[in-house]
Amino acid sequence: MRKLLHVNASPRGAASSSYQAGQETVAHLLRREPSLQIFERCLGMAPLPHLDAAWNAASLMPAAARGDQEHSILALSEELIGELETADMVLISTPMHNFSLPATLKTWVDYVVRPNRTFHSTPDGKIGLLKNRPVRIIVSSGGALEPPASWQPDFITPYLHHIFGTLGVGDVEVIRLDNMNRGPDAVATSRARFAHWLAGFRF
Ligand SMILES: Cc1cc2nc3c(=O)[nH]c(=O)nc-3n(C[C@H](O)[C@H](O)[C@H](O)COP(=O)(O)O)c2cc1C
Repeated sequence: MRKLLHVNASPRGAASSSYQAGQETVAHLLRREPSLQIFERCLGMAPLPHLDAAWNAASLMPAAARGDQEHSILALSEELIGELETADMVLISTPMHNFSLPATLKTWVDYVVRPNRTFHSTPDGKIGLLKNRPVRIIVSSGGALEPPASWQPDFITPYLHHIFGTLGVGDVEVIRLDNMNRGPDAVATSRARFAHWLAGFRF
């Protein structure tokens, strides 16, 4: 049975437009593949603790030098990496916060992008240690992100392409649900673009 990891980053729960679009995507995939196993990681409703000095030290220490305390400190990171490793596909639903990721999603990135665990550093750059798999990212924003009306930068798209590339995952696509705070006509246009993308989505 194939597995899908659905990571949600909005703090707005069921009212969140990115979460709703993520749920529509999951429903679409389940119609095509009823045996698909779904695992939800809700970062917005249950934020991860920020990383502290002890975590930092345990992460950078050689694996062989770690004792029980360091293993316990890294247990949550291992759990999150395990969710990624076992997923055949990853779906991320996130709002844009100040042109970028919500802090909760950035913290998730810091837990899963770990030296000598999910990537190796080499003189030529970082080499990812995860196998490639589809990653689809739904970004909801209050203002415009698509041309011609867009005036604001989108740091989420290039950043998450780079992060998954660092992990060795190159099959990444971002779907933008923009103008969600610009009135019903703008929302309808955005939702129609999303529905068109979803209708053609296969995994
Ligand atoms: C802290 C914060 C920062 C935001 N920054 C932006 C922004 O930079 N650009 C933008 O278009 N919308 C911004 N918004 C609006 C949200 O992206 C928008 O309401 C989005 O649709 C929320 O998604 P959700 O319903 O999935 O939570 C911001 C909202 C919050 C709460």
